[in-house]
Amino acid sequence: MKDSFVKKVFSDVNEKYRIMNDIMSFGIHRLWRRKFMECFGDVEAKILIDVAGGTGDIAKRFIKKGGEKVLVVDNNQDMLKRGLMDVLDSGELFLLDSIKWELGDSVDLNVSEQFDFYSNAFGLRNSSSYMDTISNSFKVVKGGGKILFMDFLNPRYEKHSVLMTAHEHYLRYIIPVLGKIFANNYDAYHYLSNSIMGFVSREWILDMLAKFGGCNIKCNVMNNVCAIYSCTKP
Ligand SMILES: C[S@@+](CC[C@H](N)C(=O)[O-])C[C@H]1O[C@@H](n2cnc3c(N)ncnc32)[C@H](O)[C@@H]1O
Repeated sequence: MKDSFVKKVFSDVNEKYRIMNDIMSFGIHRLWRRKFMECFGDVEAKILIDVAGGTGDIAKRFIKKGGEKVLVVDNNQDMLKRGLMDVLDSGELFLLDSIKWELGDSVDLNVSEQFDFYSNAFGLRNSSSYMDTISNSFKVVKGGGKILFMDFLNPRYEKHSVLMTAHEHYLRYIIPVLGKIFANNYDAYHYLSNSIMGFVSREWILDMLAKFGGCNIKCNVMNNVCAIYSCTKP
């Protein structure tokens, strides 16, 4: 039920996905993504599985940082196609050899290879099982490999400062209206707000990473809105 609705949302928004990220975050998501890439550390000649990879933003950054190969997995064919078309349109044809695009689900990853890195940016809260998504991340990473998640913070679990109240109001009242104005899609952006306000706490995610055996667990909170979670598989 959740899965088919989420698929429809991303099929509807894929064309405007990148521009809407800029509008809704006032461009700040670019800084979060830069920070996310810093958290990878050295990627020289390493391979990544980028789950819920969408249009391949993280994959492209990984290759440009020196990574060797990326498998982008997403359960929405339209998002994957958009990513591939963006590569062709940008003329960055070197990315064609380094990035593979595969239809698949974060809760049931069907890959034979073991990767140096697992990443999932803004995909965890969309999955039908957060626990299965996190557990699967450990299955596809080599021992010593790194697992990185980035997602929005649910303001309901954060300290009730004026800032968090403002965040909750922004999600509840402003985001769907921006969706209507700029993408002519109130429902998709209403879903986006609800998915953040129905998401788990950062403590829950950190507990799960520990439960599945992660070490060097870290959490980087950005602008009180978003967090990066990273750990190493022993
Ligand atoms: C907000 S977008 C993020 C895309 C990309 N990671 C980025 O940073 O731009 C969320 C993506 O997760 C995908 N997605 C949602 N649920 C998924 C699941 N269970 N398995 C794989 N991908 C999923 C959607 O199709 C969408 O492309």
